[in-house]
Amino acid sequence: MAKCSVCQAPAVAYVRVQRRYLCRQHYLEYVEAKVERAIRRYGMVGRGQRVLAAVSGGKDSSTLLATLSRLSGRLGFELIGFYIHLGIYDYSEKSRRAAEELAAKLGVPLLALDLREVLGMGIPELAKTSRRPYCSVCGSVKRYVINAAAVELGADAVALGHNADDIAVYNMKSFLSQDLEAISKLGAKTDTVEGVAVGRIRPLYLVYEKESFLYSLLSGLPFLHEECPFVDRRQLEVELKEAVNRLEDKSPGIKMQMVTRLAKRIGDYPRPRGEVSRCPSCGLISSGGECSFCRITRRALGRPMGMEVRRRIRALAAEMGLLRASQSHS
Ligand code: FES
Ligand code: ZN
Ligand code: ZN
Repeated sequence: MAKCSVCQAPAVAYVRVQRRYLCRQHYLEYVEAKVERAIRRYGMVGRGQRVLAAVSGGKDSSTLLATLSRLSGRLGFELIGFYIHLGIYDYSEKSRRAAEELAAKLGVPLLALDLREVLGMGIPELAKTSRRPYCSVCGSVKRYVINAAAVELGADAVALGHNADDIAVYNMKSFLSQDLEAISKLGAKTDTVEGVAVGRIRPLYLVYEKESFLYSLLSGLPFLHEECPFVDRRQLEVELKEAVNRLEDKSPGIKMQMVTRLAKRIGDYPRPRGEVSRCPSCGLISSGGECSFCRITRRALGRPMGMEVRRRIRALAAEMGLLRASQSHS
């Protein structure tokens, strides 16, 4: 049986690009070191800052929350988890349980918002009235609610669980359709727009999908093994993923090169044109006029619900004692 190249204990994984076998403990440390490197290299978060990590209950969010919670002491940032119950039947129930167990095990506070409590409905009903694909409505809703939570909590950054494979595939897909503005959003970090949008960071930027999966398995943390029933497995994305993996087999490291070079050149890609404006209904970021969440909810419920979501998150945060001192009286 192969032995760990560091401590000679039985190995559980082989890291091909480094030509090293690693035991469980050293594998966990290897992934945590990658996350730390990404945080430092791309200046994702500073001392004394507050990070809101989006937790879905899946493997990447388990790796995200676990690695961040291990690093938060050393790097001096505060970590809060955020979960959205999307009202997707059994799947949402199971993912809520996974997210709650994960946060409890790690000792990280978790703020959970149930969409149905605020809107009286979840993603399936919202998607029906908006006549858009489930995943597209769900994406808009999640982006909105996560940003609203970050604004209400006074967070300095929102941490997302996208891994290196996700970035490589989105990058190739956007390149094929020459959607350069979409590529401009694939960096390790996006900027905060004061008062309306909190910048996003991707701490798993240098972590391969396989590594994230193995980390969450080896760390013994709970995560949901199922995928959302609406998951939209677009053929092109599946094929691109396979193509990138084939390339990686032939030239180990090429996937990582793709994402690190992208991060370096991200400023060269054109950003979406147009002024950043405030949604007249909820006050958060919009690309002109009412934001997409307020439009989706207006269509489904007859009125925009952004403000309600903000109020609900604020009330939950106050109950948990998570509002920052400067915010609690405003
Ligand atoms: Fe959003 Fe599946 S998680 S549609
Ligand atoms: Zn070892
Ligand atoms: Zn709005």
